[in-house]
Amino acid sequence: MLNKYINSIIQGDCLEVMKNIPDNSVDITFADPPFNLKKKYNGYKDNKEFNTYLEWCKQWIYEMVRITKPTGSIFVHNIPKWLTYYADFLNEIAYFKHWIAWDAPTAPMGKSLQPSHYGILYYVKDPEKNKFYEIRYPHKRCRKCDYLLKDYGGKKAKLHPFGPLISDVWTDIYRIKHNKYRDEHPCQLPIHLLERIILMSTDEDDIVLDPFVGTGTTVIAAKRLERRFIGIDIDEKYINITKDKLAGVSSNSKIGDIWVSFYLDEIETIRDIDWVKLAQHFLIPENIKDIDFTKIKKIKFDKQTRLLKYENIKI
Ligand SMILES: C[S@@+](CC[C@H](N)C(=O)[O-])C[C@H]1O[C@@H](n2cnc3c(N)ncnc32)[C@H](O)[C@@H]1O
Repeated sequence: MLNKYINSIIQGDCLEVMKNIPDNSVDITFADPPFNLKKKYNGYKDNKEFNTYLEWCKQWIYEMVRITKPTGSIFVHNIPKWLTYYADFLNEIAYFKHWIAWDAPTAPMGKSLQPSHYGILYYVKDPEKNKFYEIRYPHKRCRKCDYLLKDYGGKKAKLHPFGPLISDVWTDIYRIKHNKYRDEHPCQLPIHLLERIILMSTDEDDIVLDPFVGTGTTVIAAKRLERRFIGIDIDEKYINITKDKLAGVSSNSKIGDIWVSFYLDEIETIRDIDWVKLAQHFLIPENIKDIDFTKIKKIKFDKQTRLLKYENIKI
């Protein structure tokens, strides 16, 4: 039954579709459900009664855990309010790994602190068997001068040439702001958010399933990184947008034979274990060990040579 769904986008109710998928058969599941905030979707009515919403969420969360392999991971994205209930369900059937805070300011809500992060609950099926790769992101830089933002004091010599290991607070990935990058969908996620999650938790050819695929962010990220995918959405319009977009996507988010996540001409995410091989593609000055990294500008990706260059080095 699984084979007929591989690398396809299915229109239907995710609960019905997931019921046809065998236990322990996909590598990761990622869900970005409607948040019950009365958002204007094409067809779906985002205004369920409180308990109805939670009871519905419990059902698809159970299905996600059931179909995920023992080596696999379960990710659920939502506002913190709903995640507190989800954690209650998930703690019964899977193991907590992280609450990732994705720093993304939203509109003020009146008498409350301004919500400034979404949460991504990260659970695993079996902590002994779980597949996980540490990931690195580029050093943060001043937008105007391009030099490192943080003064690392006496520790500069020990800085990693690419950037630090990522924590559970992600501040370097932005929501889609420009309309030219946005589909006709009220809640499209940025592609490099999903690419980071996929690089962190899967290998090439693994299966990624998204039960609320919208206009396709997860499946496009999976295809760019040469993972297999299954995307489900109830809305025909979003399914068609996803299919059209997928047709134009190729599996080329790599440098040499290493999969990475790009945003424009910069790398957003690499795996720590890939650095040794990846470093061969960087034009790294020979005396790198003596260099103060605060004096090096951005790393740029040259699309023609497919090499990465450190710029403006002042020694
Ligand atoms: C928050 S959006 C997902 C957006 C997606 N992450 C993206 O980047 O495009 C939630 C989606 O769930 C879909 N949906 C609502 N109820 C569903 C159901 N029962 N089964 C499958 N999809 C459903 C909606 O049509 C909507 O596209």
